[in-house]
Amino acid sequence: KKVAVLISGRGSNMLSLISAALDPSYPAEIALVVSNNPGAGGLERAAEFGIATAVLDHRNYKGNRDAFERDMDALLRSHGIELIALAGFMRLLTPFLVNAWQNRMINIHPALLPSFKGLHTHERALETGVRLHGATVHFVSAEMDDGPIIMQGAVPVLDSDTPDALGARVLTVEHQIYPKALALVASGVASVSGHKVVLSKED
Ligand code: GRF
Repeated sequence: KKVAVLISGRGSNMLSLISAALDPSYPAEIALVVSNNPGAGGLERAAEFGIATAVLDHRNYKGNRDAFERDMDALLRSHGIELIALAGFMRLLTPFLVNAWQNRMINIHPALLPSFKGLHTHERALETGVRLHGATVHFVSAEMDDGPIIMQGAVPVLDSDTPDALGARVLTVEHQIYPKALALVASGVASVSGHKVVLSKED
């Protein structure tokens, strides 16, 4: 399956997907990396691996999300993309793109959904006093940080934690579960049934 990874920043999750896909038996090829931010460090990392990169700068669209998403959709299709993996892509998507890619777009969120949707998840986890925190890979639906859950990874919250320390622990788990979750989707093992993901038996 040809996958596009959408990023806005450093792209460490993108790198974990690229690394996994270097294995010839991995069921997905990272064929394109797109950033809405021309300064995203991940663009250079991807190019070093010989992966096609593109910038679609949302600031050129003056708040016209529809035009931004139509161009994104056209770009993805022109590259023959079959699956989208959002990896720190910091733009909210409208129903146009979400519906066009329904069940073919996944995201990683740095919290155990449905807890802590949105931003600053590590600060909020510490404020709330949860003892377990983590990351979730899910199919993208029209609601932010919602949609059928593919895989989650949990880490303990320590009394001594700062948001950065906790975030680093969660990031390690992100890098473990995202390649696994993408493989489940790309191979067709994970599919959506109603509001949940079902895993077909691997043989
Ligand atoms: C990750 O924590 C991801 O879960 C969140 O944004 C961060 C992106 O980091 N949505 P990176 O660009 O993948 O390094």
